[in-house]
Amino acid sequence: MTQTEDKTSLSTEDTPLVPIEKVVALCKRRGYVYPNSEIYGGVSGIYDFGPLGVELRNNIRRFWWWSMVQLNDNVLGIEGSIITHPRVWEASGHVENFVDRLVDCKKCKRRHRVDHLPAENLEQNKCPNCGGELTEPRVFNLMMETYIGVVEGERMKTYLRGEACQNIYLDYDNVLKSSRIQIPFGICQIGKAFRNEVTPGNFLFRQREFEQWDLQFFVHPSEMQKWFDYWKVYRFEWYRSIINHKDRLRFRAHGPDELAHYAKQAYDIEYKSIIGWQEWEGIHWRQDWDLSRHSQYSGQDLSYTDQETKERYIPWIVETSGGVDRTFLNLLLDAYEEEPPSGKDKEGRTVLHLHPWLAPIKVAVLPLQKNKEELVTTAKGIHNRLKRLMVAQYDDVANIGRRYRRQDEIGTPFCVTVDFQTLEDQTVTVRERDGMTQIRRAIDELPGYLVEKVTWK
Ligand code: GAP
Repeated sequence: MTQTEDKTSLSTEDTPLVPIEKVVALCKRRGYVYPNSEIYGGVSGIYDFGPLGVELRNNIRRFWWWSMVQLNDNVLGIEGSIITHPRVWEASGHVENFVDRLVDCKKCKRRHRVDHLPAENLEQNKCPNCGGELTEPRVFNLMMETYIGVVEGERMKTYLRGEACQNIYLDYDNVLKSSRIQIPFGICQIGKAFRNEVTPGNFLFRQREFEQWDLQFFVHPSEMQKWFDYWKVYRFEWYRSIINHKDRLRFRAHGPDELAHYAKQAYDIEYKSIIGWQEWEGIHWRQDWDLSRHSQYSGQDLSYTDQETKERYIPWIVETSGGVDRTFLNLLLDAYEEEPPSGKDKEGRTVLHLHPWLAPIKVAVLPLQKNKEELVTTAKGIHNRLKRLMVAQYDDVANIGRRYRRQDEIGTPFCVTVDFQTLEDQTVTVRERDGMTQIRRAIDELPGYLVEKVTWK
């Protein structure tokens, strides 16, 4: 997964890391993200997405699906349900093991995850916030419970899925039998997951309701290392291609104490933001664990028979598991910049340097003045043509400088301005967001020019 090097992309030199509060404020102000149930005081760790947010999410999802399912002949997609048979979560180990151990400070009442406490505080049983005494650890299960059925006493307790990938194991045999695919092959899915995170926080980074994407790639055990290495690089390049600050991306190998008992290795793709180096996506060596467990718990044989050699085995799995929400957050943190006043912009501006392919609005069409009918009619005509090809916005409110700044702040890569010269020669000004350069283009050339500029290459 590589992209032709973009000569206009930002330099990778280290610029200051953006405080999350600035991105939170922009998201609310401009309609990217709102706190959920805000009029009732909100629910921590749950968010709603506004008009721009939903466009960005759709673009992120579409890009992942396109690059994982459409571009790879050996990968298929499914969409499984959020609610499954409860036994699924016993087989997966979530009912028993998906827990956080927590302590509370008796003085400041703050709650801490035991595995996040510094060693010194753990040894001395002291709160890292105020030095107060800590309670004994208590265990919390992160699975969100729900019930199937309406008759009291006959309702079946189950769970909102704690990870989206389980559907893929459940549908693996159906996909195999209903398509002509053979090992090695992969199944992809994007979908919501729910966790009663005890310490949600850092905006979209750790939520209680979020959206995951998974590839589960099924292989013969002898080919596990080859495919693990292949997807590890593929996914890293995918992330690298959509950020400006390439030096803020790295792999982190899991240490022996972090590895699941069946995993020979695992890597996190990490992004560095104001909250430090944090996991963006995990590349996991799942071996035959998932299919073996589901075979055992369901009583169904999930082994695979090779058509040529007739060898029968439980396939091993390479998992790449990331999320729409962390991608959304990291892209905004990566793209946000407050530029000081300069020769080109006397007031300074806030700009989102989002990749044009992912930006919610691709082009804004602006008549220079809104009280000149010919300018307005021409601009509306251009907008009507462009909006069939890409998300385009018409804007005639405020002076042209303020309109440019508004579009910069929401990450629109191109503005098309209809001015008096347009009425004479049918050309418009095309202003590019990052360099603020302006060129003239004929109206008839605009669709081709812009499609070329905002399409992945
Ligand atoms: N099936 C493997 C799995 O679920 P995970 O590391 O728990 O692994 C995978 O989750 C990805 O899901 C993470 O890399 C992250 O992008 C996203 N994710 C996990 N928990 C999240 C949360 N509470 N809020 C937002 N995204 C989360």
